Order: sequence, then structure tokens, then C-alpha cells
Amino acid sequence: MLQFKASENHESNFQLMSLNNANPADEVMCSCSGTKRGEILNLFEQGLDMDAVSRRTGAISGCGGCEWDIAELQRELAEQKNKEEQGS
Ligand code: FES
Repeated sequence: MLQFKASENHESNFQLMSLNNANPADEVMCSCSGTKRGEILNLFEQGLDMDAVSRRTGAISGCGGCEWDIAELQRELAEQKNKEEQGS
């Protein structure tokens, strides 16, 4: 019997999109708008929040399927910055 475990699949999708991916900047995070990871990272690094990134790129404004992954990317980036600040 085939069982679908959404959380495991979602986690593995996120791992594919993590900051440690081989070519993360070119990876499309929002297939509805075609927004790539590098564009989203750049906007987060400029201090934009999720709503502003959505307005600027069109991400999260279609099916909404990318919202969790983009939120996780934002959280991961914030954690990385906190670690860098604590290390300096
Ligand atoms: S995949 Fe981003 S809104 Fe659909």
C-alpha cells in the first residue's frame, strides 16, 4: 500500500532548496511567478519582509504553494545572521 507522508516530502523538498544546495541562486522557488531563490535571498538581505517580497516578485501570489519554503528560507537566513552576529 502506498502512503503519502506530506511532511517528509515537504522536508525533502526544502532540503533541495536549502542554502547548501549546489546551485541555489538559479533554483525557481515559486513556479507560479518564476521567482528564483537568488532574487528572494537578495530581497530578504535588503530587509524586505514576506509581503514585500511577494509584492516585488509575484511569489506567494498564485497558488501559495511556495509560501512555506520561502518562509523557511527567511527563517534560515535569519538564523545564519544571528550566528554570524554572535560569532563576531
Ligand atoms: S508556487 Fe508560488 S504562488 Fe504558486
